[in-house]
Amino acid sequence: MDYKRLSKAQLEKELLLQQSRYDKYKAMGLSLDMTRGKPCAAQLKLSEPMLDQALLDDYTSESGTDCRNYGIVAGLPEARRFMGELLGVPGDNIICGGNSSLNMMYDTISAFMMFGVSNDEADRPWFEDKDRKFICPVPGYDRHFAVTELFGFKLIPVDINPDGPDMDEIERIVRDDPSVKGMWSVPKYSNPTGYVYSDECIRRLARMKCAAPDFRIFWDDAYTIHFFNDSPAEQLNLYNECVKAGNPDRTIMFGSTSKITFPGAGIAALAADKRTIDFLLSRISKQTIGPDKLNQLRHVKFLKDLNGVVAHMKKHAEIMKPKFDAVQDVFVSEFDAPVEGQLQWTEPEGGYFICCRTGEGMAAQVLEMCKQCGVAFTPAGSTHPYKKDPTDSYVRIAPSYPEIEQIRSAVEIFCICVKIALIKQLLER
Ligand SMILES: Cc1ncc(COP(=O)(O)O)c(C=O)c1O
Repeated sequence: MDYKRLSKAQLEKELLLQQSRYDKYKAMGLSLDMTRGKPCAAQLKLSEPMLDQALLDDYTSESGTDCRNYGIVAGLPEARRFMGELLGVPGDNIICGGNSSLNMMYDTISAFMMFGVSNDEADRPWFEDKDRKFICPVPGYDRHFAVTELFGFKLIPVDINPDGPDMDEIERIVRDDPSVKGMWSVPKYSNPTGYVYSDECIRRLARMKCAAPDFRIFWDDAYTIHFFNDSPAEQLNLYNECVKAGNPDRTIMFGSTSKITFPGAGIAALAADKRTIDFLLSRISKQTIGPDKLNQLRHVKFLKDLNGVVAHMKKHAEIMKPKFDAVQDVFVSEFDAPVEGQLQWTEPEGGYFICCRTGEGMAAQVLEMCKQCGVAFTPAGSTHPYKKDPTDSYVRIAPSYPEIEQIRSAVEIFCICVKIALIKQLLER
């Protein structure tokens, strides 16, 4: 139904209908949480065999290291190779760390702030540039934006399209301003849109002319293998493209097994050119005498290699796909098809999120109504730098954690609230 075509009388009738649906739900005293992208219990269960003591029957790595002891700051060679397969680079280009890739992103920015991007005297610490800026594709991941905000960067939003961020705009921004030090990216099944950057976008990112010689792309490949259909989407490897373009140090890539095994006890890694790896290791070796190698060994023994991960992710997909389908079903039954200014939504083939757009100026109001009805969504604005969405229209839906029936109710309530807000706005005109 296109509400904009309805007469005043029809709108009033429709408002009564939607209001009564809303009141019915409100009376149920629901408490539904659709806020964060966490694996559900059934997904966590898939990796329980990894905790089996027999898996670690001996604690020695392939090179004979006793993994219970100190050492090997860059991570076990077999774990580096394993994470390298996930990120598409050789193990030598990997540092395998603790359980959190976000932690590694924070530490990398922190190192660049304090020391610059290398030991070269010409690479000045980022903190010296009082006008430092960071590009933030929007809608994007709130925790990325929070890190660079904390370190005093001016955050520059750039719109993201289904094939990646607006590259004309990015090329324009980086060309003349040496204070633009970097950009965030979630290149595959992006948070929150589910978009997959195109090969053309990746080539342009690798080749573009940057005024700042120390411009760096923080390539957060958090969902690289998190597909719902038969296989993960194919995508050019940014590091390889950067090498081809003569800019081998342009990107630092990140990934983890947080949503493959356990978010609280996975393994994380970063990938970069050898010079950056050596520079970061020279800092990390002052922070720690070595990561949790038992967990790294456990992961390699359990998942083995990329094929092992793909097979494991198919089991995740069996749990996730019906949940994402449930969201799409409710949207289609409530709105038929996406309509600009009414409700639009993405249809990801992987990842953890669906992104919606209400009419402009409505998202906060809609989410407040949902809250009053017992349904919590990620707060409006979270998808944008400084938590301010100038259009007040983006909403992130995270269907992984709740049960399917809960998802259906939550999304139905969301749709009812969108309708009520829309009709009220039309009636006020
Ligand atoms: C894009 C993105 N990057 C990183 C993370 C967190 O990763 P980790 O658990 O490895 O710190 C998340 C979690 O939701 C995410 O959505």
